Amino acid sequence: MKTTQSHEWFDRANAAIAGGVNSPARSFRAVGGDPPLVMDRGEGAYLFDVDGNRYIDYLAAFGPLVLGHSHPRVTRAGEAALARGPLLGTPHPDEIQLAEELVRAIKGLEQVRLTTTGTEAVMSVIRLARAFTGRNRVIKFEGAYHGHSDAMLVRAGSGASTVGTADSLGVPGGVTQDIISLPYNDLSRLEQTLDEMGDEVACVLTEPIVGNMGIVNPEPGYLEAMARLTHQAGALLVFDEVITAFRFHYGSAGDLLDVIPDLYALGKIIGGGLPAGAYGGRRDIMAYVAPLGGMFQAGTLAGNPLSSSTGLATLAVLREENPYPRMDRLANDLATAVLSLAKRHGIPVTLNRAGSGFTLFFGAEPVKDYTSAQMADKARFAEFHRYMLEEGVYLAPSRFEAWFVSAAHDVAMIEKTVEAADRAFQRMRA
Ligand SMILES: Cc1ncc(COP(=O)(O)O)c(C=O)c1O
Repeated sequence: MKTTQSHEWFDRANAAIAGGVNSPARSFRAVGGDPPLVMDRGEGAYLFDVDGNRYIDYLAAFGPLVLGHSHPRVTRAGEAALARGPLLGTPHPDEIQLAEELVRAIKGLEQVRLTTTGTEAVMSVIRLARAFTGRNRVIKFEGAYHGHSDAMLVRAGSGASTVGTADSLGVPGGVTQDIISLPYNDLSRLEQTLDEMGDEVACVLTEPIVGNMGIVNPEPGYLEAMARLTHQAGALLVFDEVITAFRFHYGSAGDLLDVIPDLYALGKIIGGGLPAGAYGGRRDIMAYVAPLGGMFQAGTLAGNPLSSSTGLATLAVLREENPYPRMDRLANDLATAVLSLAKRHGIPVTLNRAGSGFTLFFGAEPVKDYTSAQMADKARFAEFHRYMLEEGVYLAPSRFEAWFVSAAHDVAMIEKTVEAADRAFQRMRA
């Protein structure tokens, strides 16, 4: 595989961009530290690098590309919006229609506010929960990524609840001291914490299906009990559905699992590949948002015509074509085949799947929380990642991410990926 041009570009990237990447997740440091490949373009389920190599893409740009790259309807919508002016600084029909569609599609989303990123959506929804309840504490879960706002960068602790230890330099203790991080899928710890300090808790924030320690599903009854305990404490339940909304069906994961939160944070798919986020939920809570109420939140680029139009076009295709059953089937076929190959090659793995997303953990133990996810073998994943890349399969460069099957994948691509995995496992045994 020729990678000369990729390496030349990445040398330039390293000189001009801190670490060569504009988001650390794009670097290959977690998979051995080779320079990441520099991509030229995406088409359907394929990525093409600057040397002309082609890859079957399971990254989906970390989730947004549920229709694959450059879907013609999304591209046309974006081009038309660009021609009308990508930014107006006023209300406009595309953002209004996107908001209406989100409210129609997502149960419990009575009103919405569009933002530019998922980070902003989460940051704002926490401010709103605090404004509404008049309380400061926030319960989140270890290993869960909710964007890079100061308060959300709390270390995933082990053992006792971790209160206020930042994972990043530059985050003042004052910002994180009210953030409590608990193990996911551990109901008794949640119950105990709410017993002790429930009347100080503004919200319990979680992904209903976790995408950020690899895919981790909630255990049966866990979310229902979380909702009950949260409400008993007078706190709000907030679902971060930046990854999960419109990933598994046309709507939220909360709706799919029949647990409806008070508030949502959204992002990724709703922008169709352009920058977008949103938060919203109960109308009585949204009444606190300025200019209606005293919770201030704003954004020059929020709800811009370009992102709104590509988001709307993506949702229209999803609604009209319902690709979800097919995506689920392909993901299931791929996951099942990869699992059985690993077994045949004597490589211990665990696989967690939710619909069209799954994570292959290199380890024999079930993964139900961050502690168990961390047990997955980093070196083995790095090896697998490199071999798959050489086979023309692009996986996210971290053992804590998902493989996403999109509407653009087909049976032939899945078969090619299975053959690639067979050879990769074979090389790992050698
Ligand atoms: C669950 C979740 N919340 C929030 C975010 C932050 O979104 P963004 O990267 O658009 O700021 C992410 C990003 O990966 C995410 O996965």
